[in-house]
Amino acid sequence: MNNAEQEYTQPLGLDVGTSRIVVARNADKKYQYDSQLNAFLTIPYSKLAESLLQRENVFHEVQGPDIVVAGNDAEKFAEVFHLETRRPMLHGVLNPHEPHSLAVIRRIVGKLLGRAAMEGQRVFFSVPAPVGECDGGIAYHEASMRLILAELGYAPTPIQEGLAVVFGELGTSNFTGIGVSCGSGLCNACLAVLSVPVLSFAVAKAGDFIDRQAAAVTGDLATRLRVQKEQSFRLNGLTSDRTVNALTVYYQEMIANLTGALRSHISATQRLPKLDQAIPLVLCGGTVMPKGFLEHFSTALRAQEFPVRLSEVRLSADPLNSTARGALMAALC
Ligand SMILES: Nc1ncnc2c1ncn2[C@@H]1O[C@H](COP(=O)(O)OP(=O)(O)OP(=O)(O)O)[C@@H](O)[C@H]1O
Ligand SMILES: [Mg+2]
Repeated sequence: MNNAEQEYTQPLGLDVGTSRIVVARNADKKYQYDSQLNAFLTIPYSKLAESLLQRENVFHEVQGPDIVVAGNDAEKFAEVFHLETRRPMLHGVLNPHEPHSLAVIRRIVGKLLGRAAMEGQRVFFSVPAPVGECDGGIAYHEASMRLILAELGYAPTPIQEGLAVVFGELGTSNFTGIGVSCGSGLCNACLAVLSVPVLSFAVAKAGDFIDRQAAAVTGDLATRLRVQKEQSFRLNGLTSDRTVNALTVYYQEMIANLTGALRSHISATQRLPKLDQAIPLVLCGGTVMPKGFLEHFSTALRAQEFPVRLSEVRLSADPLNSTARGALMAALC
């Protein structure tokens, strides 16, 4: 932890995402972000390997017979050694198939936040909304995150990701509207009126779904599809390139699934307050970033009647930091 972090006693916003963990701080009325990939890889322990990693200042920890390299350094190492990175989280919560998951997240959160500058410093951290009726491990995930943050001396409060987006993006409409975050493990959505959540839900078709499905039909690795998607993909109809076509097909499926879920969840809400005015819908998260996403999303939304009047549908100006910023704004309230 550097001096600036030690002196920072204000609240923090923390986005605990399936692929990235982002912290937001409020420095001189400007928001500052720091992030790490929520990923790791292991290499067999040897004294030499450990001293080389130390010398190169690589973020790592020895765990029994393994050296665990975590965060942004994991991706660099994966490229060098042609390994796949592993993920501590799956579909928005701790990955039940990864024995290292909790230890890795503890390390990454510790690196990003450091110890609280004063006992009880506030942190709002994002949690997913349930997919369907079942808990899906959210209670365990939330309790584990609370513990990690409390161990560091913070006073943690969970905030659902969709509501965090409302806080981060919809200040000009009095925190009334629909916030949607399209991430890697989930799309989270929240309809809020005057900052009070009226309905929240998540769907499991998001960035990882697109990578996995496109990889399955092209015979490629999901990681390679992800890199291509992030570097050069645009949602622009079918072409002669089969990888682009596969990404397009599953992007369209993800968008149809999300717009369908928005429609059906809002229609099914019986205690929907009477809205006098049309409300905005804002989209954020890494999965909204390819050119053409907003147009495809808007077209899918217009294809059938929508249960509330929308004043605008727009993309966040800073889609990767929106949840952390919103968690910070909620913590500052
Ligand atoms: N430029 C880009 N174009 C397309 N997709 C992108 C781009 N940048 C990131 N992504 C995708 O966005 C996803 C990560 O987004 P984000 O960081 O919002 O997710 P997360 O918050 O970690 O996950 P979740 O909210 O589901 O737990 C990944 O699927 C990644 O491949
Ligand atoms: Mg997210």
